[in-house]
Amino acid sequence: MNYEQLFRLDNRTAVVIGAGSGIGQSVAKGLAAHGAFVVCADVKPELAEITAREIGEHAEVRAVDVTQTESVKALFQSVAAERGSVDIAVATPAINVRKQLLDYTDEDFDRVIAVNLKGTLAVLREAGQIMAAQGRGSIIVFSSIRSLVVEPGQGVYAATKSGMVQMVRALAAELGQKGVRVNAVAPGVVDTPLTRPIKDKPDWYNAYADRNALKRWASSDEMAGAVIFLASDAASYVTGTVLFVDGGWTAVDGRFTPPL
Ligand SMILES: NC(=O)c1ccc[n+]([C@@H]2O[C@H](COP(=O)([O-])OP(=O)(O)OC[C@H]3O[C@@H](n4cnc5c(N)ncnc54)[C@H](O)[C@@H]3O)[C@@H](O)[C@H]2O)c1
Repeated sequence: MNYEQLFRLDNRTAVVIGAGSGIGQSVAKGLAAHGAFVVCADVKPELAEITAREIGEHAEVRAVDVTQTESVKALFQSVAAERGSVDIAVATPAINVRKQLLDYTDEDFDRVIAVNLKGTLAVLREAGQIMAAQGRGSIIVFSSIRSLVVEPGQGVYAATKSGMVQMVRALAAELGQKGVRVNAVAPGVVDTPLTRPIKDKPDWYNAYADRNALKRWASSDEMAGAVIFLASDAASYVTGTVLFVDGGWTAVDGRFTPPL
């Protein structure tokens, strides 16, 4: 065993969907730093372009919309055809409509489901088919602490984040014998454009910082290590699992520290 090579991703092709912003941007840079060629994909290719430019010659840009099956299929099939394989597939896109369930409209529900669940299924299916045929690969999608715990206004988002985990587990079971691993990362609170509205409200922002064991928010760069691990041979026996990167949010009750 060459332990020094455990996390290296040289000669592997990674597709990172959501590479134009936040966590996806950090993940793309992290995978490239460990040797992977990274296809930076996003519904906003002009943002993915910035990520790819920062990475340099080991990156390229593609447009993709995870809500459109044909778009996801075309992405994975073209990368496999041009580069010979898709070894790593990461997907970060998700949206949240924060509303109490009594106010949630069918249209709100359909919009969130289209990206978070149908989009995840498209990625799992299209990447999974190519990796099953190759006989190897690692798929990583982004769930959340909301797969386990909720707060008012997060019901449908939370349901999609749990639903993603069950699809990950099912695909891990279905593709394990083909050499394909499927896992989820579940972040806590991460400073990104998605959470900018919270940062703009200091009471809300500080309450979330106080809620976890580390008493702070994460940067998006702190999500990269989990993905590099799951993508690499260091995780060769890890599949069907959820890696919480939440500063202890789900470990600690968080409401009160009793006097001792
Ligand atoms: N930021 C947090 O605090 C936090 C916490 C828990 C979980 N998460 C999860 O992590 C993931 C990434 O979050 P983020 O904060 O980096 O989000 P973000 O909004 O900063 O980035 C998401 C990226 O996905 C792209 N995207 C959106 N819709 C798309 C579509 N239909 N097709 C292709 N690309 C699309 C966006 O253009 C953007 O570049 C999400 O799944 C989110 O639910 C984030």
